[in-house]
Amino acid sequence: MKFKPFLLERWFSKYEHDCEIMMGESGVKPLTLKELIDLTGNTFDDIDVKLGYGWSNGLPELRELIAEHYEDLDADSIVVTNGAIEANFIISNTLLDANSEVVTIFPTYAQLWQVGENLGARVKKWRLLMDNKYKPNIDQLADMIENTDLIIINYPHNPTGAVLDKKDLEKICELAELHKIPLLSDEIYRGLEYKATDRAPPAVDLSENAISVAGLSKVYGLPGLRIGWLACKNKELLDRIWSFRDFTSICNGVINEKLAAIALQNRELLRERGLKIAIENFEILKQWVDDHSDVISWVPPKAAVLTMLMYHFDMDSETFCRGLIEQKSVFVVPGSCFETEQQFRVGFGYDTERLKIGLQKLSEYIASLKGEN
Ligand SMILES: Cc1ncc(COP(=O)(O)O)c(C=O)c1O
Repeated sequence: MKFKPFLLERWFSKYEHDCEIMMGESGVKPLTLKELIDLTGNTFDDIDVKLGYGWSNGLPELRELIAEHYEDLDADSIVVTNGAIEANFIISNTLLDANSEVVTIFPTYAQLWQVGENLGARVKKWRLLMDNKYKPNIDQLADMIENTDLIIINYPHNPTGAVLDKKDLEKICELAELHKIPLLSDEIYRGLEYKATDRAPPAVDLSENAISVAGLSKVYGLPGLRIGWLACKNKELLDRIWSFRDFTSICNGVINEKLAAIALQNRELLRERGLKIAIENFEILKQWVDDHSDVISWVPPKAAVLTMLMYHFDMDSETFCRGLIEQKSVFVVPGSCFETEQQFRVGFGYDTERLKIGLQKLSEYIASLKGEN
């Protein structure tokens, strides 16, 4: 199979380990194992499990806890996967082939649509515009649907932190239902909205056609557990997708599933930790952008811990970001990884003090570009 590389991951692999300040991460600061155990009032004995294979759709106790995220779903509507990335991967592999067509929100986390592209499917990009605050144009979606086999959305949105109105989500679900097209809704950032009123329901609660994908990596600060999931009411569709995972990873790590269950028994505690970091660090970034509004513009995010910053210098995004790495040892992601230019993605979910240092270094870099020193 000839596949196009995942540019975002390639950029990380090339530079992340050489930088002193990481401002590229897309989730909140991860917990250590001990922090998770202590914070949730457990002991290491509580994660003692038999190291056999686990359930191929996930530990029942964990699936029950996940089902509580949704209205009217039970444990049998959930498949637990190795990260949300595996959920996205098996959905595309089940529903797409070289003769398929997929309509995807764009830009977004490229894995979402690139799996289909690598399978040979025709990918139609439903563009979100900065001028429209990254709000989707539903009429455009209606016009784009032809022989479409899958619609892909991702809100709260990577890379901008934009959110989706409930009404817009309802309209997207209606279109998917009208045309009988499965809808992959990647909701991995759901729960990190700065205002609770900005939180749309999971797509799976609105439509039989929807498959909601989420996981523990971003909001809960547990990417190392590699626990994600997909939720779907349509049993026939769910069973087809589930059976593809027999070819990928068989099951999840059993210790990871046990830890994931502990995390979800304490869901609100961990979510509030993530939200507190997100809001605190957002305010710091906002102040920094306000202070640099002569050369930086943005649409302030409403959720999550990442956003796109547009710079007003005449240079491509890789050159801009490589210069920052080489001169200031600060890691950010170039817009080119999202096929957009004159922009870079900042992740602000990690340590607050380090974020401040990173932004100070970014100010110095910008001053040097302006020729101020
Ligand atoms: C939108 C989106 N979906 C899925 C993933 C993959 O998450 P996981 O670590 O759970 O595999 C990411 C990771 O950055 C993401 O941004």
